[in-house]
Amino acid sequence: MWRKLNAPVTDWSGRKVWIIGASSGIGAALASAMLEQGARVAISARRVSMLEGIAQDYEHALVVPLDVLDERSWDQALERIDREFGEIDLVVFGAARYDPRHVWDLDLQKVQASYDLNVVCAYRAAARLAPRLIAQGHGGIAMIGSISGYTGLPRAIIYGATKAALQNLTETLYLELAPKGVSVYLISPGFVRTPMTQANDFEMPGLMTPQAAAQAILKGFARGLFEIRFPTGFANVLRLVSRLPYRIRFALLNRVTRA
Ligand SMILES: NC(=O)c1ccc[n+]([C@@H]2O[C@H](COP(=O)([O-])OP(=O)(O)OC[C@H]3O[C@@H](n4cnc5c(N)ncnc54)[C@H](OP(=O)(O)O)[C@@H]3O)[C@@H](O)[C@H]2O)c1
Repeated sequence: MWRKLNAPVTDWSGRKVWIIGASSGIGAALASAMLEQGARVAISARRVSMLEGIAQDYEHALVVPLDVLDERSWDQALERIDREFGEIDLVVFGAARYDPRHVWDLDLQKVQASYDLNVVCAYRAAARLAPRLIAQGHGGIAMIGSISGYTGLPRAIIYGATKAALQNLTETLYLELAPKGVSVYLISPGFVRTPMTQANDFEMPGLMTPQAAAQAILKGFARGLFEIRFPTGFANVLRLVSRLPYRIRFALLNRVTRA
């Protein structure tokens, strides 16, 4: 029988949310949207002045500087969260880097940097937060992946592969944490106009604003989804294409991605 995969969240008033990667783009827009709906939101990233710029508009925003690559920085951030929040209702992990390049332009230091941030830091977030959420017996963790993790795509040899790994690890998180009362979400955006996609020199199908992305994420939480994917049309088509046999899938992808 079909059932909701997570407890639906429609009322954000008073909920304690921690958004990691909140200084710009989707994380910043999601923080504002949740603050507007009455949540208490801790906003984290390295660029503290950007976080302060967001926080100055809201009474219930809490600036928590964090470099997710640095263990000591996690210690300090978690101390602050414990002090201010106690229990956490939701953590959103969205820190990532995007390094589009062809296989013939690979730079292994850049590969390492993307895996460290996009994948290893997601494990670090899970390792730091899962025991707390299990002890609470409620609350949730959301990982921001990408629809580019669904299938191999030209120029996504680094980014797409890190997001495929993130998708897989989030599926495992769901299977292990949901039975313990913890919600787990995989957020899969398509193209969103943010600093990350600013340098893209191709037409981005279904391009959304960060504000529209934030609304799509809130809708997904309200529906109790596991995977919150958007924009619906483009994301569903790519999902479907990724399930086709390789012969058909590669023929289609070759056709639409050829320059
Ligand atoms: N834009 C899109 O089209 C798109 C599509 C699919 C998925 N996504 C995903 O959506 C998420 C948000 O991306 P975005 O598009 O909103 O890009 P963005 O504006 O560049 O946001 C990236 C965020 O990650 C933070 N970050 C980077 N390194 C960090 C570190 N070491 N420690 C802490 N925070 C760090 C950045 O803050 P600081 O630099 O201040 O630390 C920033 O807040 C990412 O996971 C991205 O992969 C985006």
